[in-house]
Amino acid sequence: MVRQHVNPLSRFFQQPRPLPPPDELFREPEQPIHLDIGSARGRFLLALAQAEPQRNYLGVEIRRALVEAAEADRQALGLGHLHYLFCNANISLQDWLTALPAGQLERGTIQFPDPWFKKKHHKRRVLQPPLLQAIAAALAPGRELFLQSDVLAVIEPMVALVEASGCFERPPADARPWREHNPLPVPTERETHVLQQGLPVYRVLYLRNEAPLPALDALEATLEAADNPG
Ligand SMILES: C[S@@+](CC[C@H](N)C(=O)[O-])C[C@H]1O[C@@H](n2cnc3c(N)ncnc32)[C@H](O)[C@@H]1O
Repeated sequence: MVRQHVNPLSRFFQQPRPLPPPDELFREPEQPIHLDIGSARGRFLLALAQAEPQRNYLGVEIRRALVEAAEADRQALGLGHLHYLFCNANISLQDWLTALPAGQLERGTIQFPDPWFKKKHHKRRVLQPPLLQAIAAALAPGRELFLQSDVLAVIEPMVALVEASGCFERPPADARPWREHNPLPVPTERETHVLQQGLPVYRVLYLRNEAPLPALDALEATLEAADNPG
């Protein structure tokens, strides 16, 4: 079955949903947080939260039915350090990230985001300049942003945007342009599917540096240039 992507720009998904603060989400709300954007059915975070229970995990996802199924799984296991929320990451996440206590976001992941190939659909891509700015603002120096995709046309504009921000560096030992291995101990569902087919996965790990946040219009211009080379 071919599944249509959700259009995050449709009116329904433009309505902001206030996201609960950590003390309403987690049993130990002061623990560091791993934020997974586009958590889908949630099996990646469910496995990772059990493999590495020393931090909290939040998955955000625009498909409500997937969030409900993922929440049912984690409730059945009684996991108090994992939560899934239904939202459009581009509309609802920025306020939540801004309100987080300084230094609490330990890692952000955006893995195999939906591809939007047509130029008129580029605004539907999940990593937009305001979201990147909010992630960069919430990550303390040394904290991680991990991106992966099996589609070059998806990951290349993300890389262009992150690097234009000036707020992130790759670990010096990492291979260029793509990191060879996933730094996380658990693959995502899409990653497993792609690897089973023997297809390549493009990965980049970034560490937040000490640079101040860039101007939004400079980031928008970078994205525009990455989409219109030459
Ligand atoms: C191709 S799936 C990948 C899922 C998972 N990360 C994996 O690697 O298996 C991308 C997911 O991102 C979700 N998504 C797309 N745009 C989103 C948005 N603006 N906010 C939250 N989730 C979004 C989609 O609904 C979909 O479940």
